[in-house]
Amino acid sequence: MTSDADRTAPVPEPSLAQYRSDFETYHRLPAQGRSRARILAELQEMHDLEQARWEEGFVSGAVYNGDADHVDFVNQAYAIHSQSNPLHTDLWPSAVKFESEIVAMTASMLGGDGIGGGPGSPDGVCGVVTSGGSESIQLAMKTYRDRGRSEQGVERPNMVLPTTAHAAFAKAAHNFGIEARWIAPTDGWVADVDAMADAVDDHTVVVVSSAPPFPHGLIDPIPELAAMALERGVGFHTDACLGGFVVPWAERLGHDVPVCDFRLPGVTSISADTHKFGYAAKGTSVVLYRDQALRHHQYFTITDWPGGLYCSPGFAGSRPGGLSAACWAAMVSMGEAGYLEATRRILATAATVTAGIRARPELRVFGDPLFVIAFTAAEGATCADGRPLDIYEVYDAMTRRGWALNGLHRPAAVHLCVTLRHTEPGVATRFLADLADAVDEVLAGPPTGTGMAPIYGMADTVPDRTLVADALVDHMDAWFRL
Ligand SMILES: Cc1ncc(COP(=O)(O)O)c(C=O)c1O
Repeated sequence: MTSDADRTAPVPEPSLAQYRSDFETYHRLPAQGRSRARILAELQEMHDLEQARWEEGFVSGAVYNGDADHVDFVNQAYAIHSQSNPLHTDLWPSAVKFESEIVAMTASMLGGDGIGGGPGSPDGVCGVVTSGGSESIQLAMKTYRDRGRSEQGVERPNMVLPTTAHAAFAKAAHNFGIEARWIAPTDGWVADVDAMADAVDDHTVVVVSSAPPFPHGLIDPIPELAAMALERGVGFHTDACLGGFVVPWAERLGHDVPVCDFRLPGVTSISADTHKFGYAAKGTSVVLYRDQALRHHQYFTITDWPGGLYCSPGFAGSRPGGLSAACWAAMVSMGEAGYLEATRRILATAATVTAGIRARPELRVFGDPLFVIAFTAAEGATCADGRPLDIYEVYDAMTRRGWALNGLHRPAAVHLCVTLRHTEPGVATRFLADLADAVDEVLAGPPTGTGMAPIYGMADTVPDRTLVADALVDHMDAWFRL
């Protein structure tokens, strides 16, 4: 870990321009392959440009462990199994072992032990390994759509979910023709149980909540919602992509968190990301189901394809077995004690940061956060020139100080998702000092007119949302422009 004194590492430009000028750009394959040594040197150079910012704890979420020894160990596990493909179970029984055990360990951690013969048994909680939270969520939503269609004859399915649920649910609704019934949260920024109950009807295939949701990090009242879903006879999905590997340990550490998992009889599926607080490499997540009958609605089979009898449990065909090996290695090397200790450190740091933000009267923290700390400008907070304090200007002032926070909107806010990076000595103190500085700067000066503040300000006020969507499309096009 580097000290405060040498935190002058270059922050990469948000655009790709820097790489265009400093590295060769390939519009087509090079006529002759380049030297491996030079390629590796170039890869290393880009890595070195990008590493300092996340390693030194300037980034919200994104890299959840990042300890050099841990990263090296996970990379070794990947390298050993880099050629493996879980689709070919005959060639790589190791991948079958890794994935079945990743699923079982996650299910056990999330309340699956007391169900049937336990995770891994034919009547236990089951699941599959996926490529990430968005895939886990989409698979689960497709599963409920297909179950509704085949078991209940639901042709126009809907899902009922708080507006704070992750964008991946909107993507699933779009991709699978499910109506999304978005319900505004309560004043306390958690799911509104009564309003959600009112939205459930005969076409509802699933009710969704999060532990915690991405924006404000405040766990939904899952026991009440899951009981409601059970009573109404509909599926219930806990999105624990973010908190799946934190909340169970927080509970063990004595924190006041609601039960969110399969111990609640109404919970029928859970998404939990191994590539976040499971501390695996990016590219794995787990989707769990209460029973195999439900999981069967996720599977795909084709029996008359000339390419042979084909089946795949998720969306992908071939998949990177090396990532499953790395995930398995991360989980087994952490163990319960490792996750408990990591969670203890994260929650202690988050408490310090929360207290520090609350100490600034111009800022307001949303609720009582666990490890995702969302905050905004306090009502009445005013700059020297009389304009109300704009939290996006604070966000921009933090960016100028090297920080990469998450900008939220509706309402305007930002959050810091605390990871192990922030538990390193001095990081929380530096965050609070920089935040105090940033707030003072915005309070004292005129708006800079650059950065995210004007963009978010405009995006929020444009009534025609297709214009905003078009801007996002242009933004994505730019990612692929040489
Ligand atoms: C609560 C929650 N659900 C789902 C996701 C989506 O995960 P991914 O980015 O791995 O697709 C996230 C990502 O941050 C999340 O916070």
